Amino acid sequence: MISEKLLKKLNEQMMNEFYSANLYLQMSAWCNHEGFEGSAKFLRNHAAEEMGHMEKFFDYIQDIDALPIIDAIEKPKSEFKDLKHVFETAYKHEKVVTSRIHELVELSLSEKDFRTFNFLQWYVEEQLEEEKLFKSILDKINMVGLEGRGLFIVDREIGSMKDKEIESIKNREIESIK
Ligand code: FEO
Repeated sequence: MISEKLLKKLNEQMMNEFYSANLYLQMSAWCNHEGFEGSAKFLRNHAAEEMGHMEKFFDYIQDIDALPIIDAIEKPKSEFKDLKHVFETAYKHEKVVTSRIHELVELSLSEKDFRTFNFLQWYVEEQLEEEKLFKSILDKINMVGLEGRGLFIVDREIGSMKDKEIESIKNREIESIK
């Protein structure tokens, strides 16, 4: 049976994933408002992906015969200096999520809750991908700077990145069931 402490932390992470979804949805709205249509599309899709992360916790908590508790969600940031600031914020946020997932893994291991430890492995791998993804976008923006046609091209490229990412996630899932 899961400890109360670990269950509370799983529930908190479920709510953190909700927050991530709201943060990316808000960023998407900002990008759309500023004319960065590619980034808006990417971030909107990413918000939906975060809801998937939340649902995995929601389902797991129920699978172990416990009750998920939907709690209040902090208001996400809605003002950004420029497109670089948006993706810097996202990258920083993902690093925080990674450290929270690692703390959960550590706790599950210290409590010898191997089922939860195993469940969390998906998130460990996912966070590696999330950090890589946002870092690669930041690198592109840093390469072209914030002025002119380069940024327009990068924004368009960001808009098509999600499709490539979905393809790579599908491939990973196919590999994992082989
Ligand atoms: Fe659910 Fe972007 O981590």
